[in-house]
Amino acid sequence: MKNYPGQKKIYGLYHKIINQIPKHQNYYEVFAGSGAIAALLIEKNSSAKFYLNDIDGSVTDKLSCTFRQAKVSKIDATKLLNKLMAADTDTFIFMDPPYLHSTRPNNTKLYKHEMTDYDHKQLLSSVLQLDCNVMIVHPVCELYDTWLKGWRKVLIKVRYHNKMSLECLYMNYDLPEQLQVDAFLGTDCWDRQRIKRKATSLVNKLIALPELERNYIIRRVQENFA
Ligand SMILES: C[S@@+](CC[C@H](N)C(=O)[O-])C[C@H]1O[C@@H](n2cnc3c(N)ncnc32)[C@H](O)[C@@H]1O
Repeated sequence: MKNYPGQKKIYGLYHKIINQIPKHQNYYEVFAGSGAIAALLIEKNSSAKFYLNDIDGSVTDKLSCTFRQAKVSKIDATKLLNKLMAADTDTFIFMDPPYLHSTRPNNTKLYKHEMTDYDHKQLLSSVLQLDCNVMIVHPVCELYDTWLKGWRKVLIKVRYHNKMSLECLYMNYDLPEQLQVDAFLGTDCWDRQRIKRKATSLVNKLIALPELERNYIIRRVQENFA
């Protein structure tokens, strides 16, 4: 589903999303669409259990074929959240709802199932009762800023075709100390390259050491960061 409307495998955007995802055991994507972020996490060997949900049956049929390792469900996202009230921080929920109509250029209809402003309020009201870690991606807007006041925000400029949009990651948790997937670490391609080079140079230095010396240093590092 490469060209799925609103899919998030956009260069620069998915890096920033994944670089904010903390360690977890259960990954829920409640408005999965093409499941672009789940696919990237799986490609980079995330060890989590994957739960993908979408209200559209034609979408969940495709998800079931593509994501053999995931549990796929087809229910309204707010209802699913209400079943996750007992989940703790071992669970991470990624939400990419259909955007509020007022934030879309020309108010375009994109999905078979869309959400009204009332649906968004119902969703946000359930989200605020969750204890697990939640990230919501949505264009900056008054409704989300008001309901999610106090949540951590990361702003990202995204180009869709030839239009720029200011999107926001709204998160109910602090900057993660450990990422689920660190393959995209870095603020941009230069920074990612710098980090990769630094890691390669350190690893090569370790490889060049006599085995016992190397094992001693590795043990000391593990002790310091346990
Ligand atoms: C912005 S798209 C998600 C795109 C996805 N992140 C990707 O990368 O492909 C929003 C999705 O929400 C689904 N949807 C709409 N209303 C829903 C609802 N009430 N509950 C669950 N899914 C819903 C739509 O079918 C659509 O696939």
